[in-house]
Amino acid sequence: MEFNKVKNINGQVTIPGDKSISHRAVMIGSIAKGTTEIHNFLQGADCLATIDCFQKMGIEITNNTNTVTIKGKGLHGLTKPASILDVGNSGTTTRLISGILVAQDFNVRLNGDASIQTRPMGRIIEPLSLMGANIKSVNDDGCAPLEITGSPLKAIHYNSKVASAQVKSSILLAGLYADGITSVTEPYLSRNHSELMLNAYGANVTSNNTTATITPVAELFAQKIDVPGDISSAAYFIVAGLIVPNSEILIKNVGINPTRDGIIRVCQSMGAHIEIMNQKQSGGETSADILVKSSSLKGITIGGAIIPTLIDEIPVIAVLACFAEGQTIIKDAAELKVKESNRIDTVANNLKNMGADITPTEDGMIINGGQSLNGAVIESHLDHRIAMAFAIASLVSEGTTTINDAECVDISYPQFYHDLKRLSK
Ligand code: S3P
Repeated sequence: MEFNKVKNINGQVTIPGDKSISHRAVMIGSIAKGTTEIHNFLQGADCLATIDCFQKMGIEITNNTNTVTIKGKGLHGLTKPASILDVGNSGTTTRLISGILVAQDFNVRLNGDASIQTRPMGRIIEPLSLMGANIKSVNDDGCAPLEITGSPLKAIHYNSKVASAQVKSSILLAGLYADGITSVTEPYLSRNHSELMLNAYGANVTSNNTTATITPVAELFAQKIDVPGDISSAAYFIVAGLIVPNSEILIKNVGINPTRDGIIRVCQSMGAHIEIMNQKQSGGETSADILVKSSSLKGITIGGAIIPTLIDEIPVIAVLACFAEGQTIIKDAAELKVKESNRIDTVANNLKNMGADITPTEDGMIINGGQSLNGAVIESHLDHRIAMAFAIASLVSEGTTTINDAECVDISYPQFYHDLKRLSK
């Protein structure tokens, strides 16, 4: 798909539902008793894969224009699927559903696409096995396909080496079925949507600094969930509004949970004009409208506890850094190597091809801003966030940018190009 420089980008955009919250609403709704209604559900391929998995386990789920209805059958209501569960490209589906599957009274095989078959699953196999789970990497390489046979689970305390909400959530979901109190400590706090949603459904989860603790309850009970817009999708318009001259964008109804709002804090530290308006609360989650205006920016260092709060936004933050004065250092972000693509490499190689001054490091990248960018051929590596980050870079690059496999944005933001075109002049 081809993209060209634009004069400005202006107007209002409503961001599709949050991917992390949409996944959790289907999973937790399926194992709660009663009818869950999910509004503003993200109709991206990843979340549709989660729906498909639970339908295969006997849960009646209807999906009508952004409202998903789930007839939950309670903690012990899932049934053995007739076929393999296909998680597609979704790491979240794989890791979170495994925490539920290890406690069922049937065996199941999980698999996904080529990218999923290279992503590390040892990080959930280890803690779940410590709980007594029977979960194996079929090819013994620590990746999917996974073979899971349900069994009784023991409560554990687990010290996670990585700040990963997927690892934490997998353990908490398994903890729902364990014989006592299960807790997870992570090096930095990762997104807490599972903790908030589980409690909204009647679970008993407490959080203390970077430790989350779950005490089993007899049942969870259906809820109505309003999914806020995904800040990870809003990030593309935040950056576009800041780096395209003469621009102003109002981004409506964006989730600003403090475990996800690192991009806002980073933009503010870089000197961005960004306003948060009309805050509201639902199900423990906060959402707001975000106004951004073209700004002159300064480079900063981004590392430590803020990294998990903006991990998925780093590709587009790297683009932003190219338009800031001075140096931006991104560190403590080695997790980027095990996302849908190796995002340290895919960001650095594509930005270099556009003429940026960027050096990849072991745990991030160093960018010297101020070089003008030129259109180039961009390899998305079928990674939705790479395709979208470089579509934003193309808006301020001389000449034409061609993004290969651009349709991979369907994973998290199917109407992205449509929205981008509508706002661009
Ligand atoms: C997610 C957590 C993050 C994030 C992913 C979604 C989630 O992964 O990168 O897109 O929904 O829990 P990790 O928690 O593994 O870092």
